Amino acid sequence: MNLSEKMKRDWDRRAQHHARFWIATEDYHSEKIFTRSGEATAHSLLRKLHGRHARSWRVMDIGCGIGRVLKPLAPYFTELIGVDVSSEMIAQSKIWLAEHPNIATHETSGVDLQDFPDHYFDLVYSYVAFQHMPRPVFECYLKEVHRILKPHGYFLFQLPLGPFLDTCAEDTIGIRRYTVLELCEKLHRNGFLMNLASPYSTKDLTQAQDHDFIMTINNEKNFALPAGKSTSLECFELGPISDAFSSFELQMYSHFADRRFAEGQTQEAIKTLQILVEHNPHHLSGWLHLATLFVETGQIHQALSTLSKLKSLHPRYEKAHHTFQQLLTKFSSTSVDPVESACSL
Ligand SMILES: C[S@@+](CC[C@H](N)C(=O)[O-])C[C@H]1O[C@@H](n2cnc3c(N)ncnc32)[C@H](O)[C@@H]1O
Repeated sequence: MNLSEKMKRDWDRRAQHHARFWIATEDYHSEKIFTRSGEATAHSLLRKLHGRHARSWRVMDIGCGIGRVLKPLAPYFTELIGVDVSSEMIAQSKIWLAEHPNIATHETSGVDLQDFPDHYFDLVYSYVAFQHMPRPVFECYLKEVHRILKPHGYFLFQLPLGPFLDTCAEDTIGIRRYTVLELCEKLHRNGFLMNLASPYSTKDLTQAQDHDFIMTINNEKNFALPAGKSTSLECFELGPISDAFSSFELQMYSHFADRRFAEGQTQEAIKTLQILVEHNPHHLSGWLHLATLFVETGQIHQALSTLSKLKSLHPRYEKAHHTFQQLLTKFSSTSVDPVESACSL
C-alpha cells in the first residue's frame, strides 16, 4: 500500500463515520454550528487578504473536506475548486455545495495537483489539512502550488508553528508542527516569498496561533527544483501496514463515543466503538465499554456476544470472563434466555 491509498482509506472511513466531526471536532453538532464555523474561517481568510482580492479570481482549496470553507466564499469569487484525497468527502461535498454552481470539487491523489494547469489560480488556500500530512507530502504540495499559482498569486494556509513535532508516515491524522525556520526554508526552496520581514505577512510568524492563516506570495522568478526529487507515488510506498489506529485516532473515536453517549445518542456511540474494536482488537477497554453500552440499552444478546469475542481474542483477560459470567447470572431470571444467548455466541 502506498501513502496515497492509506490517506484515502483512512479519510474515507472518517468521512463515512461522521464527516463533520472529523472536519471540525468542536463544531460538528449541527449543520448550523458547522456552517458558522465555516463562515468564521472564510472571514479570517478574507481578513488576511486585506481587500487585495477580486471577484474575478480563481481559487483552490486543498483538503476541502465537504466544502465547509468553500461555501461561504462562493459569493466572493468567480470560480472555486476544492480538492481532497477522500472520495467520500468529495461525494458529500457535492450535496453540501449543490446550490453553488461556481464551486467544483475533485478527488485527487493526495500528493499532487496534476489535473490542474500551470499559472491558473489567483489564490490557493488550505485549512487544517497540511497539519495531518507527512512532511514530504506537504513539500510536494508546495511545489505544485507554486506551479498552479499565477506569478504573484497568493498562498494562504494554516499550519501549527513552534517546537518540531512529527509522527510516523502512515499516521494520517496525527498533528505535525513546524519550526518557523523549517517552514521559511521550505517556502523559499519551493518558490514562495516569505520571511519574517515580508510585507505580505501581517504578523510575525513566531506569534502565529495554531489556527491562523499564514500568508505567502508566489515568486514570479524561476527557481530550480531540488535535484532528484520526484512526486511519484513510488516514493511513498509504505509496505504492509496494520489496520490499527494511531493513539491520536483512538482518542478521537473514544472521545466521540463518550460525547454521543452523554448526549443520549447511544446508537451512534455503539457504532463508533464497533469501528474502534474492529480496527483495534487489542483495545480491551473499548470492548468492555461497548458491552456496557449494549447492557444499558437492553441489548443483552449483543453484550454477551461482545464479551464472548473479547474472551476468545484475549483468553487470559480475567475481567472479560468475570463480566460475562456476571451478565449471564444477572439475566438468567429475566425474559432473556442467557443459555440460548451463550450458545449462539
Ligand atoms: C480536518 S479536515 C479539514 C477540511 C477543510 N479544510 C475544512 O477546514 O473544513 C482535513 C481534510 O483534508 C483531507 N486530506 C487529508 N490528507 C490529504 C491530502 N494528502 N491531500 C488532500 N486532502 C487531504 C481530508 O480528507 C479531510 O477532508
